[in-house]
Amino acid sequence: MTEDISTADFQSEGAVPKGAAPKVVLSGIRATGRLHLGNLLGPMRHFVTLSRSPEHLCYFFVADLHSLTTLPEPGLLARYVPEIVLDYLAAGIDPNDNVIYAQSSVGETCELAVLLSNLMILSHLQRCATFKEKARQQPHNVNAGLFYYPVLMAADILGPGADLVPVGEDQLQHVEMARDLARRYNAQYGTAAGARLVVPETLERAAVRIPGLDGGSKMGKSDGNTLNLNDDSEVAWEKLRVAVTDTNRKRRKDPGDPTKCNIFTLHTYLSSDDEVREVAQGCRSAAIGCFDCKKVLHANLMAELTPFQERRAELASQESLVSDVLCDGARRVRPVIADSTARVRAAMGIESRLSCRTK
Ligand code: TYM
Repeated sequence: MTEDISTADFQSEGAVPKGAAPKVVLSGIRATGRLHLGNLLGPMRHFVTLSRSPEHLCYFFVADLHSLTTLPEPGLLARYVPEIVLDYLAAGIDPNDNVIYAQSSVGETCELAVLLSNLMILSHLQRCATFKEKARQQPHNVNAGLFYYPVLMAADILGPGADLVPVGEDQLQHVEMARDLARRYNAQYGTAAGARLVVPETLERAAVRIPGLDGGSKMGKSDGNTLNLNDDSEVAWEKLRVAVTDTNRKRRKDPGDPTKCNIFTLHTYLSSDDEVREVAQGCRSAAIGCFDCKKVLHANLMAELTPFQERRAELASQESLVSDVLCDGARRVRPVIADSTARVRAAMGIESRLSCRTK
Protein backbone atom coordinates (compact mmCIF):
# COMPACT_ATOMS: atom_id res chain seq x y z
CA MET A 1 0.00 0.00 0.00
CA THR A 2 1.55 3.23 -1.05
CA GLU A 3 -1.05 5.76 0.10
CA ASP A 4 -1.85 6.56 3.71
CA ILE A 5 -4.45 4.36 5.32
CA SER A 6 -7.22 6.28 6.92
CA THR A 7 -8.38 4.38 9.99
CA ALA A 8 -11.51 6.46 10.24
CA ASP A 9 -13.47 5.07 7.35
CA PHE A 10 -13.18 1.30 7.07
CA GLN A 11 -16.14 0.00 5.18
CA SER A 12 -17.06 -3.65 5.21
CA GLU A 13 -19.18 -3.15 2.10
CA GLY A 14 -16.04 -2.09 0.20
CA ALA A 15 -14.83 -5.68 -0.10
CA VAL A 16 -17.69 -7.01 -2.20
CA PRO A 17 -18.37 -5.56 -5.63
CA LYS A 18 -22.08 -5.10 -6.08
CA GLY A 19 -23.85 -7.62 -8.29
CA ALA A 20 -20.91 -10.03 -8.49
CA ALA A 21 -20.09 -13.10 -6.48
CA PRO A 22 -16.43 -12.61 -5.65
CA LYS A 23 -14.18 -15.58 -5.04
CA VAL A 24 -13.29 -15.82 -1.39
CA VAL A 25 -9.53 -15.85 -0.81
CA LEU A 26 -8.10 -16.69 2.59
CA SER A 27 -4.67 -17.17 4.06
CA GLY A 28 -2.86 -16.83 7.36
CA ILE A 29 0.61 -16.36 8.75
CA ARG A 30 1.78 -17.47 12.17
CA ALA A 31 3.13 -14.84 14.55
CA THR A 32 6.32 -16.68 15.44
CA GLY A 33 8.91 -14.15 14.29
CA ARG A 34 9.66 -11.59 11.65
CA LEU A 35 8.67 -12.51 8.12
CA HIS A 36 11.30 -13.70 5.67
CA LEU A 37 11.84 -13.74 1.96
CA GLY A 38 10.24 -17.19 1.67
CA ASN A 39 6.95 -15.78 2.97
CA LEU A 40 7.13 -12.86 0.54
CA LEU A 41 8.26 -14.65 -2.62
CA GLY A 42 6.01 -17.62 -1.87
CA PRO A 43 2.39 -16.73 -1.08
CA MET A 44 2.51 -13.14 0.12
CA ARG A 45 3.07 -11.37 -3.19
CA HIS A 46 0.04 -13.28 -4.49
CA PHE A 47 -1.97 -12.02 -1.50
CA VAL A 48 -1.21 -8.52 -2.71
CA THR A 49 -2.23 -9.17 -6.33
CA LEU A 50 -5.44 -10.94 -5.29
CA SER A 51 -6.26 -8.23 -2.77
CA ARG A 52 -6.32 -5.64 -5.55
CA SER A 53 -8.66 -7.57 -7.82
CA PRO A 54 -12.37 -6.74 -7.56
CA GLU A 55 -13.16 -10.39 -8.35
CA HIS A 56 -11.83 -11.47 -4.98
CA LEU A 57 -12.93 -10.97 -1.42
CA CYS A 58 -9.81 -11.48 0.67
CA TYR A 59 -9.39 -12.50 4.27
CA PHE A 60 -5.86 -12.42 5.68
CA PHE A 61 -5.26 -13.27 9.30
CA VAL A 62 -2.57 -13.66 11.91
CA ALA A 63 -2.61 -17.26 13.12
CA ASP A 64 -1.88 -16.44 16.75
CA LEU A 65 -3.57 -19.58 18.12
CA HIS A 66 -1.47 -21.75 15.82
CA SER A 67 1.62 -19.87 16.99
CA LEU A 68 1.14 -21.27 20.51
CA THR A 69 2.23 -24.70 19.25
CA THR A 70 5.80 -23.51 18.83
CA LEU A 71 5.98 -20.16 20.63
CA PRO A 72 4.70 -20.49 24.17
CA GLU A 73 6.13 -17.11 25.29
CA PRO A 74 3.25 -14.62 25.80
CA GLY A 75 5.46 -11.53 25.52
CA LEU A 76 6.87 -12.55 22.15
CA LEU A 77 3.50 -13.53 20.73
CA ALA A 78 1.99 -10.19 21.74
CA ARG A 79 4.90 -8.45 20.01
CA TYR A 80 4.77 -10.44 16.77
CA VAL A 81 1.03 -10.15 16.08
CA PRO A 82 1.19 -6.39 15.29
CA GLU A 83 4.41 -6.98 13.31
CA ILE A 84 2.60 -9.34 10.94
CA VAL A 85 -0.26 -6.86 10.51
CA LEU A 86 2.25 -4.15 9.58
CA ASP A 87 3.87 -6.56 7.13
CA TYR A 88 0.50 -7.22 5.47
CA LEU A 89 -0.11 -3.49 5.17
CA ALA A 90 3.40 -2.61 4.01
CA ALA A 91 3.28 -5.36 1.40
CA GLY A 92 0.34 -3.50 -0.12
CA ILE A 93 -2.85 -5.00 1.29
CA ASP A 94 -5.44 -2.27 1.77
CA PRO A 95 -7.55 -2.92 4.90
CA ASN A 96 -10.42 -0.93 3.44
CA ASP A 97 -10.95 -3.44 0.67
CA ASN A 98 -9.74 -6.56 2.49
CA VAL A 99 -10.28 -8.10 5.88
CA ILE A 100 -7.27 -8.43 8.17
CA TYR A 101 -7.86 -10.05 11.56
CA ALA A 102 -6.39 -12.11 14.36
CA GLN A 103 -7.44 -15.77 14.41
CA SER A 104 -8.11 -15.63 18.16
CA SER A 105 -10.63 -12.82 17.82
CA VAL A 106 -13.23 -15.21 16.39
CA GLY A 107 -14.04 -17.84 19.01
CA GLU A 108 -16.43 -19.59 16.62
CA THR A 109 -13.44 -20.86 14.64
CA CYS A 110 -12.51 -23.00 17.66
CA GLU A 111 -16.08 -24.29 17.95
CA LEU A 112 -16.05 -25.17 14.26
CA ALA A 113 -12.75 -27.00 14.75
CA VAL A 114 -14.25 -29.09 17.56
CA LEU A 115 -17.28 -29.97 15.42
CA LEU A 116 -15.17 -30.84 12.36
CA SER A 117 -12.63 -32.84 14.37
CA ASN A 118 -15.21 -35.63 14.44
CA LEU A 119 -14.74 -36.05 10.71
CA MET A 120 -10.95 -35.92 10.67
CA ILE A 121 -9.36 -39.32 10.24
CA LEU A 122 -6.79 -39.98 12.95
CA SER A 123 -4.31 -41.66 10.61
CA HIS A 124 -4.32 -38.56 8.38
CA LEU A 125 -3.16 -36.49 11.35
CA GLN A 126 -0.55 -39.12 12.18
CA ARG A 127 0.80 -39.00 8.62
CA CYS A 128 1.04 -35.21 8.55
CA ALA A 129 4.56 -34.19 7.44
CA THR A 130 4.61 -30.89 9.37
CA PHE A 131 3.68 -32.66 12.59
CA LYS A 132 6.58 -35.09 12.13
CA GLU A 133 8.94 -32.22 11.28
CA LYS A 134 7.93 -30.13 14.31
CA ALA A 135 8.17 -33.19 16.57
CA ARG A 136 11.76 -33.58 15.34
CA GLN A 137 12.52 -29.87 15.79
CA GLN A 138 11.10 -29.59 19.32
CA PRO A 139 11.25 -33.06 20.92
CA HIS A 140 10.83 -31.42 24.35
CA ASN A 141 7.42 -29.99 23.35
CA VAL A 142 5.45 -32.39 21.15
CA ASN A 143 2.10 -30.97 22.22
CA ALA A 144 -1.44 -31.91 21.21
CA GLY A 145 -1.84 -28.52 19.52
CA LEU A 146 0.78 -29.57 16.98
CA PHE A 147 -1.12 -32.76 16.29
CA TYR A 148 -4.48 -30.95 16.06
CA TYR A 149 -2.99 -28.18 13.88
CA PRO A 150 -4.63 -29.30 10.59
CA VAL A 151 -8.08 -29.43 12.22
CA LEU A 152 -7.89 -25.81 13.38
CA MET A 153 -6.44 -24.83 10.01
CA ALA A 154 -9.38 -26.52 8.27
CA ALA A 155 -11.77 -24.50 10.45
CA ASP A 156 -9.83 -21.32 9.56
CA ILE A 157 -10.40 -22.09 5.88
CA LEU A 158 -13.92 -23.52 5.92
CA GLY A 159 -15.39 -20.95 8.35
CA PRO A 160 -15.20 -17.98 5.96
CA GLY A 161 -16.03 -20.30 3.02
CA ALA A 162 -12.70 -19.87 1.21
CA ASP A 163 -12.65 -20.79 -2.48
CA LEU A 164 -8.94 -20.13 -2.87
CA VAL A 165 -6.12 -20.59 -0.36
CA PRO A 166 -2.74 -19.22 -1.47
CA VAL A 167 -0.05 -20.97 0.59
CA GLY A 168 3.54 -22.08 0.13
CA GLU A 169 4.35 -25.65 -0.82
CA ASP A 170 4.86 -26.72 2.81
CA GLN A 171 1.19 -26.01 3.60
CA LEU A 172 -0.34 -27.96 0.71
CA GLN A 173 -0.91 -31.08 2.76
CA HIS A 174 -2.85 -29.06 5.35
CA VAL A 175 -5.09 -27.56 2.67
CA GLU A 176 -5.61 -31.03 1.19
CA MET A 177 -6.75 -32.18 4.64
CA ALA A 178 -9.21 -29.27 4.78
CA ARG A 179 -10.55 -30.23 1.35
CA ASP A 180 -10.92 -33.82 2.46
CA LEU A 181 -12.71 -32.72 5.63
CA ALA A 182 -15.13 -30.52 3.67
CA ARG A 183 -15.93 -33.38 1.29
CA ARG A 184 -16.43 -35.82 4.15
CA TYR A 185 -18.67 -33.34 5.94
CA ASN A 186 -20.70 -32.62 2.78
CA ALA A 187 -21.19 -36.33 2.15
CA GLN A 188 -22.45 -36.92 5.66
CA TYR A 189 -24.32 -33.72 6.54
CA GLY A 190 -24.52 -31.65 3.38
CA THR A 191 -28.03 -32.62 2.33
CA ALA A 192 -29.76 -30.02 4.51
CA ALA A 193 -30.39 -26.66 2.84
CA GLY A 194 -27.44 -24.29 3.22
CA ALA A 195 -25.42 -26.89 5.07
CA ARG A 196 -22.69 -27.57 2.53
CA LEU A 197 -19.14 -26.37 3.01
CA VAL A 198 -17.09 -24.91 0.17
CA VAL A 199 -14.28 -27.25 -0.92
CA PRO A 200 -11.28 -24.91 -1.25
CA GLU A 201 -8.61 -24.87 -3.96
CA THR A 202 -4.96 -23.94 -3.60
CA LEU A 203 -3.26 -21.37 -5.81
CA GLU A 204 -0.72 -23.37 -7.77
CA ARG A 205 1.63 -20.50 -8.60
CA ALA A 206 1.94 -19.59 -4.89
CA ALA A 207 2.77 -23.12 -3.82
CA VAL A 208 6.54 -22.82 -4.15
CA ARG A 209 9.37 -23.56 -1.76
CA ILE A 210 11.96 -20.78 -1.44
CA PRO A 211 15.27 -22.34 -0.42
CA GLY A 212 17.41 -21.29 2.54
CA LEU A 213 20.79 -19.53 2.69
CA ASP A 214 22.34 -22.60 4.31
CA GLY A 215 21.85 -24.70 1.17
CA GLY A 216 18.72 -26.31 2.65
CA SER A 217 15.65 -26.78 0.53
CA LYS A 218 13.43 -24.44 2.58
CA MET A 219 13.91 -21.00 4.05
CA GLY A 220 12.26 -21.19 7.47
CA LYS A 221 12.01 -19.14 10.66
CA SER A 222 13.16 -22.05 12.80
CA ASP A 223 16.07 -22.97 10.53
CA GLY A 224 18.12 -19.79 10.98
CA ASN A 225 18.64 -19.61 7.21
CA THR A 226 16.50 -16.62 6.30
CA LEU A 227 16.77 -13.22 4.73
CA ASN A 228 14.22 -11.23 6.73
CA LEU A 229 12.00 -8.52 5.32
CA ASN A 230 13.42 -6.10 7.91
CA ASP A 231 17.09 -6.84 7.14
CA ASP A 232 18.90 -3.68 6.15
CA SER A 233 21.44 -3.63 3.34
CA GLU A 234 24.38 -4.43 5.60
CA VAL A 235 22.70 -7.29 7.43
CA ALA A 236 21.41 -8.74 4.16
CA TRP A 237 24.88 -8.62 2.62
CA GLU A 238 26.49 -10.26 5.67
CA LYS A 239 24.00 -13.12 5.32
CA LEU A 240 24.42 -13.38 1.56
CA ARG A 241 28.21 -13.18 1.73
CA VAL A 242 28.44 -16.43 3.69
CA ALA A 243 25.44 -18.14 2.06
CA VAL A 244 26.06 -21.61 0.63
CA THR A 245 26.30 -21.87 -3.17
CA ASP A 246 27.06 -24.85 -5.44
CA THR A 247 29.22 -26.86 -3.03
CA ASN A 248 31.15 -28.46 -5.90
CA ARG A 249 32.47 -25.05 -6.95
CA LYS A 250 35.44 -24.92 -4.63
CA ARG A 251 37.58 -22.22 -6.30
CA ARG A 252 36.78 -19.07 -8.29
CA LYS A 253 38.08 -20.64 -11.52
CA ASP A 254 35.92 -23.79 -11.20
CA PRO A 255 32.78 -23.71 -13.36
CA GLY A 256 29.60 -23.93 -11.29
CA ASP A 257 26.15 -25.45 -11.75
CA PRO A 258 23.38 -22.88 -11.15
CA THR A 259 20.79 -25.63 -10.80
CA LYS A 260 22.60 -26.74 -7.63
CA CYS A 261 22.75 -23.25 -6.13
CA ASN A 262 20.09 -21.67 -3.88
CA ILE A 263 21.45 -18.19 -4.67
CA PHE A 264 20.64 -18.81 -8.31
CA THR A 265 17.09 -19.87 -7.37
CA LEU A 266 16.69 -16.55 -5.52
CA HIS A 267 17.89 -14.77 -8.69
CA THR A 268 15.01 -16.34 -10.61
CA TYR A 269 12.60 -14.55 -8.26
CA LEU A 270 14.39 -11.24 -7.82
CA SER A 271 16.46 -10.53 -10.93
CA SER A 272 15.51 -9.63 -14.49
CA ASP A 273 15.49 -12.32 -17.19
CA ASP A 274 18.68 -10.86 -18.67
CA GLU A 275 20.44 -10.90 -15.31
CA VAL A 276 19.32 -14.48 -14.65
CA ARG A 277 20.76 -15.52 -18.04
CA GLU A 278 23.98 -13.63 -17.43
CA VAL A 279 24.65 -15.03 -13.95
CA ALA A 280 23.84 -18.56 -15.15
CA GLN A 281 26.24 -18.27 -18.09
CA GLY A 282 28.87 -16.54 -15.96
CA CYS A 283 28.64 -19.27 -13.33
CA ARG A 284 28.81 -22.15 -15.83
CA SER A 285 31.83 -20.65 -17.61
CA ALA A 286 33.48 -19.37 -14.39
CA ALA A 287 33.46 -15.87 -15.93
CA ILE A 288 32.02 -14.60 -12.64
CA GLY A 289 32.55 -15.79 -9.08
CA CYS A 290 29.93 -16.46 -6.42
CA PHE A 291 30.77 -13.10 -4.84
CA ASP A 292 29.89 -11.22 -8.08
CA CYS A 293 26.71 -13.23 -8.46
CA LYS A 294 25.69 -12.43 -4.86
CA LYS A 295 26.36 -8.71 -5.42
CA VAL A 296 23.80 -8.63 -8.24
CA LEU A 297 21.29 -10.48 -6.07
CA HIS A 298 21.92 -8.15 -3.15
CA ALA A 299 21.19 -5.07 -5.28
CA ASN A 300 17.93 -6.57 -6.55
CA LEU A 301 16.94 -7.76 -3.09
CA MET A 302 17.38 -4.30 -1.61
CA ALA A 303 15.47 -2.74 -4.51
CA GLU A 304 12.56 -4.93 -3.37
CA LEU A 305 13.02 -4.55 0.39
CA THR A 306 13.88 -0.86 0.76
CA PRO A 307 10.51 0.55 -0.40
CA PHE A 308 8.76 -2.10 1.70
CA GLN A 309 10.77 -1.10 4.77
CA GLU A 310 10.12 2.60 4.20
CA ARG A 311 6.36 2.06 3.87
CA ARG A 312 6.39 -0.13 6.95
CA ALA A 313 8.23 2.46 9.05
CA GLU A 314 5.67 5.06 8.03
CA LEU A 315 2.76 2.74 8.89
CA ALA A 316 4.33 1.80 12.23
CA SER A 317 4.35 5.47 13.18
CA GLN A 318 0.57 5.72 12.82
CA GLU A 319 -0.74 5.33 16.31
CA SER A 320 -3.52 2.78 16.82
CA LEU A 321 -3.45 1.74 13.14
CA VAL A 322 -2.81 -1.93 13.92
CA SER A 323 -5.46 -2.20 16.63
CA ASP A 324 -8.00 -0.38 14.44
CA VAL A 325 -7.30 -2.74 11.54
CA LEU A 326 -7.59 -5.82 13.78
CA CYS A 327 -10.81 -4.64 15.45
CA ASP A 328 -12.40 -3.76 12.16
CA GLY A 329 -11.31 -7.07 10.64
CA ALA A 330 -12.77 -9.05 13.55
CA ARG A 331 -16.03 -7.13 13.28
CA ARG A 332 -16.29 -7.95 9.58
CA VAL A 333 -15.26 -11.62 9.60
CA ARG A 334 -16.94 -12.76 12.79
CA PRO A 335 -20.56 -12.83 11.50
CA VAL A 336 -19.40 -14.84 8.47
CA ILE A 337 -17.65 -17.50 10.57
CA ALA A 338 -20.42 -17.49 13.20
CA ASP A 339 -22.97 -18.14 10.47
CA SER A 340 -21.02 -21.09 8.99
CA THR A 341 -20.53 -22.52 12.47
CA ALA A 342 -24.22 -22.23 13.30
CA ARG A 343 -25.12 -24.01 10.06
CA VAL A 344 -22.62 -26.82 10.73
CA ARG A 345 -23.79 -27.13 14.31
CA ALA A 346 -27.42 -27.42 13.23
CA ALA A 347 -26.62 -29.87 10.42
CA MET A 348 -24.77 -32.08 12.91
CA GLY A 349 -27.78 -32.11 15.22
CA ILE A 350 -26.58 -29.75 17.93
CA GLU A 351 -29.41 -27.41 18.75
CA SER A 352 -28.61 -23.82 19.53
CA ARG A 353 -29.18 -23.34 23.26
CA LEU A 354 -27.94 -19.78 23.35
CA SER A 355 -31.36 -18.67 24.64
CA CYS A 356 -30.81 -20.82 27.79
CA ARG A 357 -28.15 -18.34 28.87
CA THR A 358 -30.72 -15.63 29.37
CA LYS A 359 -33.22 -17.80 31.23
P1 TYM B 1 3.61 -19.84 8.26
O1 TYM B 1 3.55 -18.68 9.17
O2 TYM B 1 4.54 -20.94 8.55
O3 TYM B 1 3.95 -19.35 6.79
C1 TYM B 1 3.18 -18.35 6.17
C2 TYM B 1 3.12 -18.64 4.68
O4 TYM B 1 4.44 -18.58 4.11
C3 TYM B 1 4.70 -19.77 3.40
N1 TYM B 1 6.14 -20.08 3.47
C4 TYM B 1 6.90 -20.30 2.40
N2 TYM B 1 6.61 -20.30 1.08
C5 TYM B 1 7.63 -20.55 0.23
N3 TYM B 1 8.91 -20.83 0.64
C6 TYM B 1 9.23 -20.83 1.95
N4 TYM B 1 10.49 -21.07 2.33
C7 TYM B 1 8.21 -20.56 2.90
N5 TYM B 1 8.17 -20.50 4.24
C8 TYM B 1 6.89 -20.21 4.58
C9 TYM B 1 3.84 -20.84 4.07
O5 TYM B 1 3.61 -21.92 3.18
C10 TYM B 1 2.59 -20.04 4.39
O6 TYM B 1 1.74 -19.99 3.26
N6 TYM B 1 -0.21 -23.01 8.75
C11 TYM B 1 0.13 -21.69 8.23
C12 TYM B 1 -0.72 -20.59 8.84
C13 TYM B 1 -2.19 -20.86 8.74
C14 TYM B 1 -2.95 -20.85 7.54
C15 TYM B 1 -4.27 -21.17 7.94
C16 TYM B 1 -2.63 -20.58 6.20
C17 TYM B 1 -3.02 -21.16 9.77
N7 TYM B 1 -4.27 -21.36 9.28
C18 TYM B 1 -5.31 -21.24 6.99
C19 TYM B 1 -3.69 -20.65 5.26
C20 TYM B 1 -4.99 -20.99 5.67
C21 TYM B 1 1.59 -21.45 8.53
O7 TYM B 1 2.20 -22.18 9.25
O8 TYM B 1 2.11 -20.35 8.02
